[in-house]
Amino acid sequence: MSPPRSSQWYAGTDRNAYIHRAWMRRGLPAHAFDGRPHIAIANTASDLTPCNAHLDEVAASVKQGVYEAGGIPLNLPVVSLGETLVRPTAMLWRNMAAMATEEMLRANPVDGVVLLGGCDKTIPSLLMAAASVDIPALVVPGGPMLTGTFRGVPLGCGTDVWRLSEEVRAGQLSEADFLRSESSMIRSRGHCNTMGTASTMAMVAEALGSTIPGTAGTPAPDSRLLEGSHEAGRLAVEMVAADRRPSAVLTRGSFLNAIVALAAVGGSTNAVVHLLAIAGRLGVELTQDDFDRTGADVPLLVNLQPAGQYLMEDLHRAGGLLAVLREVEDLLDPEAITVTGRPLVSYLGEAQIWDREVIRPRAEPFQAHAGIAVLRGNLAPTGAVIKPAAATPELLQHRGRALVFDSVEDLHARIDDPDLEVDADSVLVLRGCGPRGYPGMPEVANLPMPKKLVEAGVRDMVRVCDGRMSGTAYGTVVLHVSPEAAAGGPLGLVRTGDVIVLDVAGRRLDVELSDEELASRTPARAAVDAFAAPTRGWERLYVETVLQADTGADLDFLVGSSGDAVSRESH
Ligand code: FES
Repeated sequence: MSPPRSSQWYAGTDRNAYIHRAWMRRGLPAHAFDGRPHIAIANTASDLTPCNAHLDEVAASVKQGVYEAGGIPLNLPVVSLGETLVRPTAMLWRNMAAMATEEMLRANPVDGVVLLGGCDKTIPSLLMAAASVDIPALVVPGGPMLTGTFRGVPLGCGTDVWRLSEEVRAGQLSEADFLRSESSMIRSRGHCNTMGTASTMAMVAEALGSTIPGTAGTPAPDSRLLEGSHEAGRLAVEMVAADRRPSAVLTRGSFLNAIVALAAVGGSTNAVVHLLAIAGRLGVELTQDDFDRTGADVPLLVNLQPAGQYLMEDLHRAGGLLAVLREVEDLLDPEAITVTGRPLVSYLGEAQIWDREVIRPRAEPFQAHAGIAVLRGNLAPTGAVIKPAAATPELLQHRGRALVFDSVEDLHARIDDPDLEVDADSVLVLRGCGPRGYPGMPEVANLPMPKKLVEAGVRDMVRVCDGRMSGTAYGTVVLHVSPEAAAGGPLGLVRTGDVIVLDVAGRRLDVELSDEELASRTPARAAVDAFAAPTRGWERLYVETVLQADTGADLDFLVGSSGDAVSRESH
């Protein structure tokens, strides 16, 4: 076996090797530098990422496992993104987190890495980084929180915030009661307990083969999370010895497996941009159409909010992802391996469904077709997505007059205006929310219903947006419209009163305007003005180089891999 990568820093008797070892000694014995693997623990623990605040304890268990297997564990704090706090949107910083983690893994003497994530952007950014450095890597998902209750009823974290706030707007819930529910929403450590983006990305990470099979979805307070973390530390050492890198684990077959899993669990639309970005780092061919082709006919087998009723703790109790995947085993690539070196499908034999209210067998799905549909048309030339499982079935074929909002601020200023010319058949259009336009592509596509319609009992309308939607949200929402308005997409040309046609069965999104009419229009002034190009810092770099949602919204120069080589010494 060739010496590990870290030996490039530590081996030898010259001055540089002396410097590298001496500063790292601090209690480490001389044999720590004898060629044994040095394993980074890329740790997104942060008090400002409440969903990940417990990851220091997880890291301690990983460390024990690394030591036990003969490696040296090294805590590596990395950029952490708290979905609820970070402004203007955590997605603006996903690529920055990925870039910073990639560079720190490459720049430091580490041979492998255990990636600790949880909150929405953390697992995607860590996987993007590991894919580009391509050193042996596995993910430990931090796990969902336990189910909280309010007045005896389970609260779905995120999803019920939308529901309760709409009830206040509809006059069905007092503001005082709404605020009373606040302390019940987050029962324990861990990330959101619905099938939102964090849960989805943990499921997807496991289906990709990047976790120890069976660990994703373990609730954060469950002692089995620490047991899995210990095992992950051991496995990282083994992976270095086997030279098992992301490029060997994350193949096209793995990504297609992830798409099957995404559909079967009713996962978040955000997984589309994240998986496209991760694949882009590896040079794996993956397009939006793969999500439609591979996922559209996969049945929905999991009854979790926001599409269903239960929460992540229930999914784990009912058998977890492996029990779900066993039902669709014939759709999975049998060759796709996991970080253990064994194929994902080899873990499905013993999986069982323990609660058929939470996980249904394939023969009795909650919905026959659960995947994400990709739409195209003169309103979305390069694509838009919709999650039919979270939509109102009657609205999946719809024709209605557009009511256009040029920005989130415009929306907030007018949506509750009693004189707003809108009815239940209107199509709400929100633009200026794409990667460049906001910037950062926020989760605003599930724009609220106009107050007067909420009061009249309307709970869903067709909405069209170039932004994203929270994985905890629901509704007939067409999102990720590409190209976005700020990049010259036709969404910037639509005017209030134009007729928009949504045809999910035909995979179309169109505005009833001729090509000549569209070509003759100039983008709405307000939509252009909403986009003020940043003049410095990350935002400037981001806006100048970010790709559109249909290819994953990575920065153009971050697509691809640079490997782990660093050619020059620091001294
Ligand atoms: Fe962190 Fe939902 S806010 S997962």
